[in-house]
Amino acid sequence: MLLNIDEACSYLLRGEPVALPTETVYGLAAPLNQPETIDKIFSLKGRPKNNPLIIHLSSLSQILPYINFLPESASLLANAFWPGPLTLILPIKEGSIPQNVTAGLKTAAFRIPNNPLSLAIIEKIGPLVMPSANISGKPSATQASHVENDFGANFPVVDGGPCSHGLESTILMEINGFWKILRQGAIPAANIEFVLEQPISLHTNTNSSQPLCPGSLYRHYAPTAKLHLTPQPDNEEAIVGFSDRQYPPQYKLFLLGHSANPEEIASNLYSTLRSLDSQNIQTAWIDSHFPHHKLYSTIHERLIRGASAPLDPPKKG
Ligand code: TXA
Ligand code: MG
Repeated sequence: MLLNIDEACSYLLRGEPVALPTETVYGLAAPLNQPETIDKIFSLKGRPKNNPLIIHLSSLSQILPYINFLPESASLLANAFWPGPLTLILPIKEGSIPQNVTAGLKTAAFRIPNNPLSLAIIEKIGPLVMPSANISGKPSATQASHVENDFGANFPVVDGGPCSHGLESTILMEINGFWKILRQGAIPAANIEFVLEQPISLHTNTNSSQPLCPGSLYRHYAPTAKLHLTPQPDNEEAIVGFSDRQYPPQYKLFLLGHSANPEEIASNLYSTLRSLDSQNIQTAWIDSHFPHHKLYSTIHERLIRGASAPLDPPKKG
C-alpha cells in the first residue's frame, strides 16, 4: 500500500513501521524514540535481536545527543559523504539510545540517507532506525514492489522508485586509531582512502562468534534459488550474466547489465536475484568473471554471500 509523506509520518507516530526509499536500498523504518515499534521491526523481518540497527538522521547536528564527541576524522568522512551511502559506527553516550537498537553494544551506527522523501520524514519526526526492508536473509529490496513481495500488498511503503545505488551503505568503524571497513557497500574503499589520505582495509573477524559487525554472522542476500559461482552445466536452469556476453542458448538468461558498468550491475543486482524466485528458478549460475576492484568488490562479496550455504544459526540475518 503506497503512502505519501504525511501518511507515512502518521503511521510512524502511532507506532506502525513503514518502508521508506533510500539511495541504497529500501529501509523498514521506526522512530528511534519508540522501542516497541522497533521491536515490531525485528519481528516483521525475523531478525535476530543481537543484530543492531542503523540510525538515520537528516542533519549532522542530530547526532550530538547520542555521542560524547565527534572525532575529527569522523567529521571529515561525514562532510565528504553525507547525505550518502556511508555508515559510521561511533561510541555512544551511555543510555542515550534504546538497547534494542544497539543490541547492547557501546557503539551505534549512523548515516544520513540521500533521498528527499526519507529526509523529509526524518525532518518531521526525528531520527529513524531502518534495517533493509526485506525478510532477513533475502536479497534487499530496491523497489517498492520488492517490499510488497516480502511483507504483503497491504504493507505501507513510500514509493521512491528504484534505488539509485542498489547496494547497502559502506560501514566504517575506527579501531585502534584506524578506520576499517566492517561491511563493503556502495562507496568503494578507494573513495574513502582519497578523503582520509591513507589506506583503509577490510576488518576481518578474529572472533567469529562475536564479530564487530553482528550482521556478518548471518546468511544474507540469498534468493530461494540455489546460486553457483562455478557452472554446474547439468544442474543449471538459468544464467545470471551480462548484456555484452554470449551464453549457451539452452539456459534462461537474467541480465545484470554491461560487464564494464559496475554501477548498472549494482543497481540491478537484487532485483535480478529476486526475479529468479518470481520465475521459480531452482538453480542458477552467476557469471562472476569480472574485475574484483572498487564497486565490483562489493558486488562480488554479495554474490558470495548470496550463494553460500546458510551459516549457523540458519535462516536468519
Ligand atoms: O544502506 C543501508 O545501510 C541500509 C539502508 C536502509 O540505510 N540499511 C541496512 O541496514 O543495510 P541493515 O540492518 O540491513 O544492516 C545494518 C548492518 C548490520 O550488519 C549490523 O550488524 C550493522 O549494520 N551494525 C549496526 N550497528 C552496529 C554497531 N554498533 N556495530 C557494528 N555493526 C553494526
Ligand atoms: Mg540487511
